[in-house]
Amino acid sequence: MDKKTYYITTPIYYPSGNMHIGHTYTTVAADAMTRFKRLTGYDAYFLTGTDEHGQKIERKAEEKGVTPQAYVDEIVANTKELWKLMEIEYDDFIRTTQERHEKVVQKIFRRFYEQGDIYKSAYEGLYCTPCESFWTPTQVVEKDGVKCCPDCGRPVEAMQEESYFFRMSKYQDWLINYIETHPDFIQPAKRANEMLNNFLKPGLQDLCVSRTSFKWGVPVDFDEKHVVYVWIDALSNYISALGYATDHDELFQKYWPADVHLVGKEIVRFHTIYWPIMLHALGLPLPKQVFAHGWLLFGNDKMSKSKGNVVYPQPIVARYGADALRYYLLREMPFGADGNYTNEAFLTRMNADLANDLGNLVSRTVAMIEKYFGGILPAWTDANDAEADVPLKEHCAALPRLVEEQMDKLQYSQALSEIWKVIGECNKYIDLTQPWVLGKDEAKKDRLANVLLTLAECVRFVAVLIYPFMPTTPARIFEQLGVADEALKTWESLDAFGKLPAGIKVCKGEALFPRIDIKKEMEALNPGEGKEEKAEAKQEKKEQKAEKKEKKKEEIPEGCIGFGDFEKVKLRVARVIACERVEKSDKLLKFRLSLGDEERTVLSGIAKFHNPEDLIGKNLVLLANLAPRKIMGIESQGMLLSAVAKNPDGTETLRLLTADPIMPDGAEIG
Ligand code: MSP
Repeated sequence: MDKKTYYITTPIYYPSGNMHIGHTYTTVAADAMTRFKRLTGYDAYFLTGTDEHGQKIERKAEEKGVTPQAYVDEIVANTKELWKLMEIEYDDFIRTTQERHEKVVQKIFRRFYEQGDIYKSAYEGLYCTPCESFWTPTQVVEKDGVKCCPDCGRPVEAMQEESYFFRMSKYQDWLINYIETHPDFIQPAKRANEMLNNFLKPGLQDLCVSRTSFKWGVPVDFDEKHVVYVWIDALSNYISALGYATDHDELFQKYWPADVHLVGKEIVRFHTIYWPIMLHALGLPLPKQVFAHGWLLFGNDKMSKSKGNVVYPQPIVARYGADALRYYLLREMPFGADGNYTNEAFLTRMNADLANDLGNLVSRTVAMIEKYFGGILPAWTDANDAEADVPLKEHCAALPRLVEEQMDKLQYSQALSEIWKVIGECNKYIDLTQPWVLGKDEAKKDRLANVLLTLAECVRFVAVLIYPFMPTTPARIFEQLGVADEALKTWESLDAFGKLPAGIKVCKGEALFPRIDIKKEMEALNPGEGKEEKAEAKQEKKEQKAEKKEKKKEEIPEGCIGFGDFEKVKLRVARVIACERVEKSDKLLKFRLSLGDEERTVLSGIAKFHNPEDLIGKNLVLLANLAPRKIMGIESQGMLLSAVAKNPDGTETLRLLTADPIMPDGAEIG
């Protein structure tokens, strides 16, 4: 039987400068999904590439005194190197300067013209060259009297030229209806609402789709002084790469429509308005989904080459390996939400999740098999302890399904969190069963065998399941476990717990992820980092103290609090990493929150008003310095703020307060 196909794409990146950790984020996500789909039996196809035309590249090349082609060739070579370093294995890398692509773009453009979707007219408007975007006078923002791009904040230029236009307005009602009747098409759903409310319902303008003011683009073949607008050129890559409209369109027949286009949230508009309309005009089906992920922020800013606040993956990978960085990128922030990249957060996670949780589990398991069974896996015995064994075995057996459920929703971070729950449970199982005590008593050898086999089998499950996210670590784990049989490394081999055979020889190796000294490593990654901030923080504290003293003297009227009192209240933005109902309580939800520099567990009695799944990724408002207290045996470390209203029928409406999604985890509120 033919395998089910799965086609995934990343945006094609502008090679105006070298790719940074932001581009890496999307590409790693696409790679992990491709690997996951292949693991689970799909025929997956993964396309990435570069978007090489446009005025920005033309100008960059000019500045450097090279041809645009030479300029992009160098960056593309670096990009491919970087993807290799990150263990990214794409099936095709499309470049918009390739003939195979240009020819298809010309055919598409001509067809639009011939069927009346495109007409010639004159254009007057405001253009943002870095974003290659046109804006109307009402859309631009003014900064010190200068008209600026609402997306990136840089100045726009007035442009007037003879242009071809695409009759977008003709397709507006069709697209509104399509989006409204296909709720999965744009994810997360809030992005669909943004498109409907901000662009489609107010009315679509016809789009200017050619330029005469520069040359670095695909020429319109029936009117050579025009080049095709970069977004029409770029979006076509998703089908030109598959051979659409050529004699060799086997891939197109096989893989189109795409299962998902992964995009950053700033380019959703192009992918969910212009692209669907282009496809519809060509009589083609739309991609099944466009998924908009959030931004990796640096401080409060989007990382970008032109702002110069960029983190590059190479030095990080050189010290800690690609798997550690891939893990961090996919684990740290829910896919769809923004998150901060800091070396400190990365190193902290490395120590906690990789060195402590995973690394220790593997090394302890292997070491104990060596110590108590001479390194040879014993056979399963009937010395079970249902209370200790069954919950772990059942949880582990259910893990593939739990991971798949999250991956079906592109929730990488949740999928990893499911795997790490089992790892945590294994470590607790070691504490509970105390193999070192069992090992002292020859009569308990059978029990010890089952304990260690249970652990080794859990490790095997984990090794199979982390492969899509961390492709090189599983081989190292299997080597230590002594698993050479390929059949024990497959998804299918996880259909039952307990397949690890007796007699294989474990082999203790190097620590998978050695524990690191965070301070030292931070200094190594970024010499001098933190020193200035510390001096500034000290000064700020001094000033605050002086101010506090001053305020103490204020007169405070009855019923009011003074500023000093308010200052005691520490409110912070807290991002929801996980949220679930508390067993045996119909009121309580248990939250795992990220404050950037730390994580907290907080309970809140709002289960009647919110679905836990809806809250994941939200930025909430946390009273962060409320004394911790235990509720139903769980320590709650703070309080989430909400708005409550009494309804006329006596019931209540309650909603948690949220902070703007752009705010980084832990931002102070005041
Ligand atoms: N060339 C267009 C895309 C055309 S697709 C038909 C483009 N290129 S880009 O080089 O600016 O890349 C943008 C994409 O890179 C984002 O949509 C996102 O996938 C990724 N990212 C770039 N910076 C990022 C962050 N700081 N954070 C997360 N993703 C980022 O737009």
